[in-house]
Amino acid sequence: MTGWLIENAFLHTKKFSDQSAWYVRTAKRQGIDLRVFGNDRFLAAYGGSEDGLTNLGNRPDFVLFLDKDVTLARAFERKEIPVFNSPDAIAACDDKSVTHRLLSGQKIPMPLTFSVPMTFPGVGYSSFSFLDEIQHRMPYPFVVKECFGSFGAQVYLVRDRREAELLLEKLAGKPLLIQEFIKESMGKDLRIHIVGGKPVASMMRYNDRDFRANVTNGGRMKPWDPDDRQAELAVRVCEILGLDFAGVDLLYGKDGRPILCEVNSNAHIQNIYDCTGINVADSIIRYIGETCRDRGIR
Ligand SMILES: Nc1ncnc2c1ncn2[C@@H]1O[C@H](COP(=O)(O)OP(=O)(O)O)[C@@H](O)[C@H]1O
Ligand SMILES: [Mg+2]
Repeated sequence: MTGWLIENAFLHTKKFSDQSAWYVRTAKRQGIDLRVFGNDRFLAAYGGSEDGLTNLGNRPDFVLFLDKDVTLARAFERKEIPVFNSPDAIAACDDKSVTHRLLSGQKIPMPLTFSVPMTFPGVGYSSFSFLDEIQHRMPYPFVVKECFGSFGAQVYLVRDRREAELLLEKLAGKPLLIQEFIKESMGKDLRIHIVGGKPVASMMRYNDRDFRANVTNGGRMKPWDPDDRQAELAVRVCEILGLDFAGVDLLYGKDGRPILCEVNSNAHIQNIYDCTGINVADSIIRYIGETCRDRGIR
């Protein structure tokens, strides 16, 4: 069986290239020939004599899509090449407001979340009356998130109206959401890796100095055995969003009740390995191999 791993060609840090090499080694051990390509190697192309994708050549049996270039992922899908995760699932996670929209009405506990009205860079907000609406429904502090962000770097806490206005003015033009701060979860969250509908590894992350528990932001980790409520919530979320695999972030609510924070379709696997010794890539590659065989591919 042959697969292509797609990584981002421009975000080429060691963290990403090490991870791609790790997947290749893991696949090799399972008898799968996995080759790595940047997302600039193939272009979605239409019109003229183009029919969807340049440079396709010998088609792989599957694509392991570890980038967020949803347009390219859709072009592979249109060529009827199985893509893991599917472009729809990647898109559902990439934009946090979309994640919350798709999960609402599905009995998934999540923080009260409001989308910030769209404006343009340089135009900003001539009125903050929408903050009145939000203040009316929940108390400060609020969590402000850029809809697209990772590693905690685009997640903020505002203590009052003044801080909220200053921050929004600074971020104006970016898609944003404002969210209830789950205070019981201050500096603490739970990462559960799900593969093929099953939890395969989990860790608690905690930070005494910051409300964000991300390891890249200074959080520490310890292995965690999720209880039934936590595991079921993470599995259910992946089912709704159509994810083959994901890193699900849960917050700790009152009485330990789990609350969905966000879902990562392209979760990194190094930290969870360092924390638990579990190679999540192993489960992901095995799941992809089995799924392809079930579909009659090789
Ligand atoms: N509503 C919230 N209440 C309390 N803590 C939060 C909330 N949302 C996020 N956090 C904290 O901030 C961290 C980063 O937020 P998250 O939505 O996971 O964004 P990122 O994609 O940057 O990881 C979480 O792991 C959690 O520790
Ligand atoms: Mg997160």
